Amino acid sequence: MKYMGSKNKYAKEILPIILKDRKPGQYYVEPFVGGFNLIDKVSGNRIANDSNKYLIELFRAIQQGWIPPESIDEETYNDIKFNKDNYPPYLVGFVGFGCSFGGVFFAGYARGDSNKGHKRNYCLESRSNILNQRIGLQNIVINNLDYRHLIIPENSIIYCDPPYQGTKSYSDKFDNNIFWNWIIELAEGGGHTVFVSEYNAPEEYFECVWSKEVIVNIDNNRKSKREIEKLFIYNPI
Ligand SMILES: C[S@@+](CC[C@H](N)C(=O)[O-])C[C@H]1O[C@@H](n2cnc3c(N)ncnc32)[C@H](O)[C@@H]1O
Repeated sequence: MKYMGSKNKYAKEILPIILKDRKPGQYYVEPFVGGFNLIDKVSGNRIANDSNKYLIELFRAIQQGWIPPESIDEETYNDIKFNKDNYPPYLVGFVGFGCSFGGVFFAGYARGDSNKGHKRNYCLESRSNILNQRIGLQNIVINNLDYRHLIIPENSIIYCDPPYQGTKSYSDKFDNNIFWNWIIELAEGGGHTVFVSEYNAPEEYFECVWSKEVIVNIDNNRKSKREIEKLFIYNPI
């Protein structure tokens, strides 16, 4: 699903690195799963988690066979945005992410560019994208918790894609220092293989195993900047 910070475009490059030494039966765990854009391409034992209730209810519903609507007009979009409790949370999730500008939760109704002579139906595109993910969602254990409350089986492969330090936040409460302390403590417990996507990581604990220069949008006025997207593995000096 189109999602802010989606790793879909890097999946072919980073998944082979993350899964290289996976053992039969070993759990693959994503504490910040977002649009399920990597985990849907992994097989076997998997645990997904995200703190966004609407996102998680949406993916649970898709996993269980729910078919999203083919179109949502702007009036309905706004009614759902301002009266979330009147609608099922999975529909709020679908409309909030799938029918919004840039896949950002209720960031504004996504409409086609009628100057170019065609109107895109973003809702239909999102419906098709998420239904294409369904097969890859089978048997994933899906949680809706703060990452610190997630129960992770011993000897798991853990891939973390948290809100990046200094970027537009998914929730204004995310504290990256608390995250690094949590993940280092978890990794020090032994057994797990831990990967993190970020621009930077504490050097004494993490080694960069993949990087790529990317252009990222920094606001809605089409301003962008160059960043180096990186994948780190826990490998203390
Ligand atoms: C960069 S996105 C993940 C994108 C995902 N890898 C993808 O490809 O679509 C970060 C995610 O962290 C989630 N998040 C933020 N704070 C969290 C918390 N305290 N616990 C769990 N998830 C959290 C956000 O809801 C968001 O979905």
